[in-house]
Amino acid sequence: MFNRQIVWITGASSGIGEALALEFAAQGARLILSARGEDALQLVKAKCDAISDNDSNLVLPMDITDEASLANRVELAKAWGGRIDMLINNAGITQRSSCLNTDMATYRTIFEVDVFGQIALTKAVLPGMIEQGSGHLAVTSSISGKIGVPFRTGYCAAKHAMMGFFDALRTEVDHQNIKITTIIPGYIRTPISANALSGDGSAYGREDTEIRGGMDVSECAKVIVKGFKSRKPEISVGKGFEMNALWIKRYFPNWLLKIAARQYAKMAKNNDLI
Ligand SMILES: NC(=O)c1ccc[n+]([C@@H]2O[C@H](COP(=O)([O-])OP(=O)(O)OC[C@H]3O[C@@H](n4cnc5c(N)ncnc54)[C@H](OP(=O)(O)O)[C@@H]3O)[C@@H](O)[C@H]2O)c1
Repeated sequence: MFNRQIVWITGASSGIGEALALEFAAQGARLILSARGEDALQLVKAKCDAISDNDSNLVLPMDITDEASLANRVELAKAWGGRIDMLINNAGITQRSSCLNTDMATYRTIFEVDVFGQIALTKAVLPGMIEQGSGHLAVTSSISGKIGVPFRTGYCAAKHAMMGFFDALRTEVDHQNIKITTIIPGYIRTPISANALSGDGSAYGREDTEIRGGMDVSECAKVIVKGFKSRKPEISVGKGFEMNALWIKRYFPNWLLKIAARQYAKMAKNNDLI
């Protein structure tokens, strides 16, 4: 299904993006790999090239927050592949800080990466997909895009925003043969918490126990690609209690609010707040 398809993955230098690249390479896709870190992207490309039967992947470094550069990135992507069949808006950054301890500048940084960057790139790619008469746009949201989680007020706000944006966009472009998929990972074992921002915008630099105990990232990528194949509009992926929280939120929302508040109160009592 993905053989020779041009799949552009942002945040491809590590974690879920890297694992998706490897999974798509195994399915015969031609990949455009983007993130800021070019060296890390070259390593991912080398792994993908080793899986693909030819040198069919491109490293296209970019900072998703540099809106002025995105049109040029899209041109370079199209010049290389001729078209873009799929864009996976996967680049992202999270936080570990309570609202009271989070600077406004940190909230703005999270929104620049997790919201405005994704919207800007999607807007830059969409006209080409409409012109070619098909396309697939995906975004890596999160359980935090469905549920409020302590110490992630900005991240939750950003991921909820992306759920709304892409659900609304689906209503506009479905008749033009443009598919939209929102991905809802639970805890997945990646460097995400080490790369998280503290309240003052500095690196958090630690691995959470939930992330350490999360789903293996290759397994996560397999579930996501299987979901794409089944044309699911929403793909949930994870293995812990947080996945149950999705249906608890739907059917017993008040109960879930109580559980989350109790969890926070317990951390406050243990003086375990960030
Ligand atoms: N791991 C989880 O438990 C989990 C759960 C739910 C959702 N997610 C979501 O999954 C996505 C991938 O996260 P991950 O877990 O794989 O974490 P990760 O390993 O930290 O990956 C984040 C990726 O985003 C890129 N990135 C960050 N800022 C960027 C920017 N300004 N411009 C371009 N690229 C940027 C990073 O590369 P550079 O630093 O080189 O730019 C990296 O490739 C994120 O959207 C995250 O919110 C993860």
